[in-house]
Amino acid sequence: MKIFIDTANVAEIRNAAEMGILSGVTTNPSLVAKEGRDFIEVLKEITTIVDGPISAEVVSLDADGMVDEGLRLAEIHPNIVIKVPLTAEGLKAVHRFAKKGVRTNVTLVFSANQALLAARAGASFVSPFIGRLDDISFDGLTLIRDIAEIFDIHAIETEIIAASIRHPMHVTEAAKAGAHIATCPYAVIDRMIKHPLTDQGIERFLADWSTVAKK
Ligand code: E4P
Repeated sequence: MKIFIDTANVAEIRNAAEMGILSGVTTNPSLVAKEGRDFIEVLKEITTIVDGPISAEVVSLDADGMVDEGLRLAEIHPNIVIKVPLTAEGLKAVHRFAKKGVRTNVTLVFSANQALLAARAGASFVSPFIGRLDDISFDGLTLIRDIAEIFDIHAIETEIIAASIRHPMHVTEAAKAGAHIATCPYAVIDRMIKHPLTDQGIERFLADWSTVAKK
C-alpha cells in the first residue's frame, strides 16, 4: 500500500517527502483554507516537491462548472488529479474528464455502491472516508474491505485511497483490507514513525556507548 499525505501545508509535505515515503498528495477545500494561501500557488509548489498524483478538489456543484474548474487545475501539471465529489453531477464530470484523459479522484465516498459507480464513470481513484464513518458508528474499514473485494472480483483498476485517516491503526487495517493507498495527515505519519521501545533502545545504546573507553 502506498502512502499519500493529506494536507495543503507545504512544510509538512516537504518534510514527509524528504523521508522518501510519499507517493502522492491529497488536498481538499478545508485543508487549503487552513493555509490561507493562494490555491494555485500552493499546488504549483507541491508539484515541485512530490512526483506523484496530487489531488486538487473542485468546488462547483454542476458538471459544467466542475469540468471548467478541473481543466484549469489540470493545466498546472500532469500530476494534478481532479478531486470530484460523489454526486450525479460529479459522475457526469468524471466521465467527461476520463474522455479527455484527465485523472480524477472521487471523494466523499461512503458506500460500496458509490465506489462502483465512480469506477464505472471512469475514476482513477476513489476515496472512502473511514474516519468520518467511524465517527457516526459505522465501520469504515468494512467499507474498504467491501470495495476492495468488488474491485477485485470485477477486475476494476480504479485505485482505492483510504481517506479520513485518524490514527496509525487505520493505516495498518486499511493496508490489510486491500486499500491501494492511505492518505494520512502529517500527525498520523509522525505517530507511525514513533515507538517507545525505539526511543528507549537509542537511549540505552547511547548510555552504553558513553562508557566505552575513548583512545
Ligand atoms: C481525503 O482526500 C480528504 O482530504 C480527507 O482524508 C478528509 O479527512 P477528514 O475526515 O479528517 O477531514
